[in-house]
Amino acid sequence: MTSYLLLITPSANRVYTEAAVELTVAELDVFANTVLSGRIHDVVATSVAGLPCVGFTAEELSTRDIAMLANASSGYALFERAGSLLRPIELHRLAWFDDDLITIPKYAGKTNEQFTHLLLNVTLLSSASAESLLDGGLRVLDPLCGRGTTLNQALVYGYDVAGIDLDGKDFEAYASFLRTYLQRKRIKHRLETNPVRREKRLVARRLTASIGRGDRTLDLDVVHADTTVATDFFKPESFHAIVADAPYGVAHGSRTVAAGLRRSPLQLLTEAVPGWTRLLRPGGALGISWNTHVARREAAAEVLATAGLTVLQDGPYDRFRHRVDAAITRDILVAIRP
Ligand SMILES: C[S@@+](CC[C@H](N)C(=O)[O-])C[C@H]1O[C@@H](n2cnc3c(N)ncnc32)[C@H](O)[C@@H]1O
Repeated sequence: MTSYLLLITPSANRVYTEAAVELTVAELDVFANTVLSGRIHDVVATSVAGLPCVGFTAEELSTRDIAMLANASSGYALFERAGSLLRPIELHRLAWFDDDLITIPKYAGKTNEQFTHLLLNVTLLSSASAESLLDGGLRVLDPLCGRGTTLNQALVYGYDVAGIDLDGKDFEAYASFLRTYLQRKRIKHRLETNPVRREKRLVARRLTASIGRGDRTLDLDVVHADTTVATDFFKPESFHAIVADAPYGVAHGSRTVAAGLRRSPLQLLTEAVPGWTRLLRPGGALGISWNTHVARREAAAEVLATAGLTVLQDGPYDRFRHRVDAAITRDILVAIRP
């Protein structure tokens, strides 16, 4: 057995850095149970020279295993233990775009970047497409996309992305950021914003982009509309994964046509999840995060189960709850469309 150490990325957010070690232990357990088929063991929080790390053991890691682990959300550097010394292992992360696509945007209400990466990983790894994680070509929807943190992370992974958000300012800010970014980086693209009309009535705005990367073109499709009518804009069974960070009910509430503004996202989820489920391919996964101070885990799980999804409850899936600040304790639920 060989011992390994994954050094944790120092985050600008001290509270997240503290949580990141235990979150990474749970994330690596999801890697272990899925694409690594039990090839890593004894995943534990530890430290070396005072630096936070996650340790694990493995018989032998293939190049593909290491390529998978390179994309752990808070992984900074990987070392093999050789006695009291550490041998660095070169990591090649998926990087269809520079990571400044994710780090440049700064705004109130942005979901923590490392956490967004974690939620995307855990959702994809739990889906029927886990083995294709490194291959590009997947399609990911964030049905509460804000200014696009999930979309940008999925673009870095080389996927086609789609989003929907009710906030017009977020929609405009994302369109403007993306246009400037692609121009400044001289990345070949076509990007346009168009009104969506039904029976001559304006029902939404739509941002579409085709972005050239090597021999591939990545498609982006973001709609300014209510997520409870997401099925009006996207084809059924067209997404491998759906990933959403629900409103925390602190600065921003959840808005639905029927119930207006609420602190708890449960009403929003109750109205939206049946539609989101129809958009998932069979075997596709839905990953959501939310503030447990405004909705209990059991209640959120019940909403997903009622929509016909299989909620993953045991093992690492119960270990993602973490404190964000005095008003927010965040948790994750992952569920599969049978
Ligand atoms: C926690 S924020 C997501 C932030 C996003 N992950 C980011 O980093 O920019 C939740 C989002 O849900 C959106 N939202 C709330 N109710 C909605 C609804 N009924 N339809 C669409 N979006 C909604 C809000 O506008 C907000 O952008």
